Amino acid sequence: MTALSQTALLTELEPVVAKNLDRHLSVAKEWFPHEYVPWSEGRTFDGPLGGQPWSPQDSTVPEVARTALIVNLLTEDNLPSYHHEIATLFGRDGAWGTWVHRWTAEEGRHGTAIRDYLTVTRAVDPVALERARMTHMSAGYQNVHDDEVLHSLAYVSFQELATRISHRNTGRVTGDPACEALLARVAADENLHMVFYRNLLAAAFDLAPSQAMRAVADVLADFQMPGAGIDGFARKSVAIALAGIYDLRQHRDEVVVPVLRQWDVFTVTGLDGDGEAARDEIAGHLDDLERHASRFEEKRDARAARLATRA
Ligand SMILES: [Fe+2]
Ligand SMILES: [Fe+2]
Repeated sequence: MTALSQTALLTELEPVVAKNLDRHLSVAKEWFPHEYVPWSEGRTFDGPLGGQPWSPQDSTVPEVARTALIVNLLTEDNLPSYHHEIATLFGRDGAWGTWVHRWTAEEGRHGTAIRDYLTVTRAVDPVALERARMTHMSAGYQNVHDDEVLHSLAYVSFQELATRISHRNTGRVTGDPACEALLARVAADENLHMVFYRNLLAAAFDLAPSQAMRAVADVLADFQMPGAGIDGFARKSVAIALAGIYDLRQHRDEVVVPVLRQWDVFTVTGLDGDGEAARDEIAGHLDDLERHASRFEEKRDARAARLATRA
């Protein structure tokens, strides 16, 4: 079987996009960022309006929750760059274009809501946040598979679920019910995004099983969160993992495995030699993830025990 070209894949998948776009629009709930922000807690800042400068004592949100909120917001902030990548690859015509714009509008709501919350509640330093946004957006985002439709669909299937888990768990550690409600609302959107992309790749598995399998194997092998370019990301992501907001165990068991199961990756038939090889790579990757996740959990437990004895 000859491989389908990128153009052929886009054309063949267009009716699936149209169907899932309708599905998305019928289940997505309209919501308003301003309703999730406790405006009465706000105070004017220093600067032209002569209010009070930010201080870390302004908020009781724990340090690690602040770190996760900043990472999550900067990721949402970089939206124009993601929009550019997917609009370039998927095109702006027909159902693909309608989806790309709709998705962008929804993601824009996430950034608005989280920024308003953080500014009003003074949970993070607004000057540092703005500078981080400038640095992060100035670097832009480049999809490592920017000329491969199926690779990009596989990536966003995992990535949307990863952001869902990360938003939801961040909400939990803030200790602020208002923030938890806001991030649960955002997480619900990310889940619908994941379903959309996952359904598209499921259709690709019917259409071109070996190409889809190859895409999934390649994407898992070099998977990185879109915020990986954030200043100090390595240090921040360790703190986030230690707090159980997003760690390797969650990545494996709550993101990678459930998505692979939905695609029936291990029972797909009709694979050619490379498709079979890709499937073996996926199995090997799951084993590696299991080992690394267990090792991280052991280290985290040992660290917690050490801290407890010291206290
Ligand atoms: Fe988002
Ligand atoms: Fe999303």
